[in-house]
Amino acid sequence: MHTPSPSRRTVMALAAASWLPVQARSRAAWPTRDGQAPLVIAHRGASGYLPEHTLAAYELAVRMGADCIEPDLHLTRDGQLVAMHDATLDRTTDAATRFPARNGGWHVADFSLEEIRTLAMRPQGTARLAHAGFKPSAAQPLRVPTLEEIVLLLRRLEAEGARPIGLYPEAKQGGPRLASHLLNVLSAAGYVGSDKVFIQSFDVDTVRNLKRRQDAMGLAYRLVLLNGSANRLLAMDLARVAGFASGVGVNIRGDGMSRSFIEMAHAAGLTVHGYTFNEARPAAALPEYRKFMGWGMDGVFSNYPDLALQARAVESRLL
Ligand code: G3P
Ligand code: CA
Repeated sequence: MHTPSPSRRTVMALAAASWLPVQARSRAAWPTRDGQAPLVIAHRGASGYLPEHTLAAYELAVRMGADCIEPDLHLTRDGQLVAMHDATLDRTTDAATRFPARNGGWHVADFSLEEIRTLAMRPQGTARLAHAGFKPSAAQPLRVPTLEEIVLLLRRLEAEGARPIGLYPEAKQGGPRLASHLLNVLSAAGYVGSDKVFIQSFDVDTVRNLKRRQDAMGLAYRLVLLNGSANRLLAMDLARVAGFASGVGVNIRGDGMSRSFIEMAHAAGLTVHGYTFNEARPAAALPEYRKFMGWGMDGVFSNYPDLALQARAVESRLL
């Protein structure tokens, strides 16, 4: 058996440690599946502050200290992966004022990347077009980005901040074609099987398909099956889910979400990431994060990553 030299062991240990959230490095008492601090996943970027799924929102999340950023993905008419939650463009962009409807609407799949690049964002909820004290560094921070542009941003921010940043894409509509494009882009970008990539989908067939494809390609991204209901996941049999996924993503307000569900998932070998922490008021948000973190939730999808990080720091001090 090959024994790594001390210097190589040191490098490997440093590489592994650098991915751990700061609070996890000196503690091992979190009730998460691996005993490490829960991940803070910036849901659609720091989407409570800046337009969702923009390079500006992703960068702000990273600057705040989020562990991962979460792009939802769709395919354009010309087969490019772009970050967008909805299958249509008109809620979050000015598409409806710029283009006539196609096939009864403004579906991402009916527009080319060149057309989509011209759209301006319409901030939703508490998000605004700018965030006090933050200047985005990307060339076009408030446009619909491609997955490749997101990867380039992360790579640059990783180099600047000397820390890895997780990428947590969700395969929205697009089926096997989207899955195939996604794996090709990630592997071409140099992601192989690291802890830094999680791929999520609400569709069981998509997750299974991703598992088969990445096995065939020698890739090992963590796959996460989403479901609005912990009870529905229990009905699917968590042990069976663990055969093709490493974790589940569950609605924190859905039926069956409880400490015991998280414990059952851990026992089946699955991590549990909860969505969506969208409370903007710190006095209400912090107890909510702390409740789920205290139950052992392994990651939180948050629109306000700064609040999630505050809650994690408070919980960490209580360990
Ligand atoms: O992916 C977790 C969460 O984002 C699922 O909800 O609708 O915001 O994609 P949605
Ligand atoms: Ca999502």
